[in-house]
Amino acid sequence: MLTSGGDTPGLNAAIRGLGKTAANAGGMQVIGFKDGFRGMMENRSIRLDNGMLSGILTEGGTILGTSRDKPHKMPMGGKIVDMTDVIVENYYKNHLDVLVCLGGGGTLKNAYRLSQKGLNVITLPKTIDNDIVGTDMTFGYDTALSIAVDAIDRLHSTASSHHRIIFVEIMGHRVGWLALGAGLAGGADAILLPEIPYTIDKLAESILERVNRGKRFSIVAVAEGAITKSCAEKIAEVEKKMEKAEGNERDKLKAKLKEMDGKYRGSTMQLVEELQKLTGLETRLTILGDLQRGGTPSAADRLLATRLGTKAVDYIKSEQYGVMVAVKGNETVPVPLADVAGKINYVPPDHPLVMSARSVGTSFGD
Ligand code: F6P
Repeated sequence: MLTSGGDTPGLNAAIRGLGKTAANAGGMQVIGFKDGFRGMMENRSIRLDNGMLSGILTEGGTILGTSRDKPHKMPMGGKIVDMTDVIVENYYKNHLDVLVCLGGGGTLKNAYRLSQKGLNVITLPKTIDNDIVGTDMTFGYDTALSIAVDAIDRLHSTASSHHRIIFVEIMGHRVGWLALGAGLAGGADAILLPEIPYTIDKLAESILERVNRGKRFSIVAVAEGAITKSCAEKIAEVEKKMEKAEGNERDKLKAKLKEMDGKYRGSTMQLVEELQKLTGLETRLTILGDLQRGGTPSAADRLLATRLGTKAVDYIKSEQYGVMVAVKGNETVPVPLADVAGKINYVPPDHPLVMSARSVGTSFGD
């Protein structure tokens, strides 16, 4: 197995769940490649025996190490090289029956590519962003959510004492599950999500309304991927053009979209400065960043990761490959990688949590 992409609380619980179940199933041997696909390409692995798997359930991070390297686009001595064939070669060199990849959306796509090369692949959905389709939940989300809620709770008392507006930037890549969950559970006065583009005027209006009601402080939970209405419209225009374009033109538009995406999102500091000017209220920013990914996994994440890791062994035994181990209600189900690779689980703008937040008076800046 290997862990790939951003680390996530619960990875070690999943490694342990899978490894111990495989050992107890008799006849199965498990090795772990270090540092994701990079380690598999360099054939760096360790034997995951009971000694290695003991005492890791509660530990954050991943005992295997991770990287964001992709098999088909690997940085090699200043160049980007397709190393897929080397990875495939190492699969056979190690006499593997299956490669289990623990990762998020990027890992899913890479795993799917390898399965198309004929490898037996299974994935486990891990990410604090909870942005994978086909599963009710990804492990890591619950822990990151608790950390963000705890931060909002702490920011509340200081915001209230100093009569300040405090923005808290929350991870989540291009989706708003973490900001929505933390904002609602933490009682944020405004929540800005990538899926609900905002205008700064509407946001300022909602904050000033609070001031008129005697509330001299506000907490704004901002997803790192939040975007203004005008920028979202510009992106939508290019997306529309791209749908019709082909070949070179399509590649150009794709590159343009990537550039626009990077430019228009994640500018929370600028937003904070503009809001301060617009409202005349003292405004601060806290960026939670990597804090959300670190430390001990929550009980819920340990349970989910253990459940998915142990279940993977059933699929291995019955030779069900090319699937992600997903959770659906009380069931654990195999979902074909072809159905989920490259897709993103966005927050529906009419999701019950969004509607509940609106009902209690939370502004979405729209
Ligand atoms: O996918 C998990 C995540 O933490 C995202 O929320 C965030 O956008 C990204 O990873 C950050 O990646 P890195 O740690 O590589 O900067």
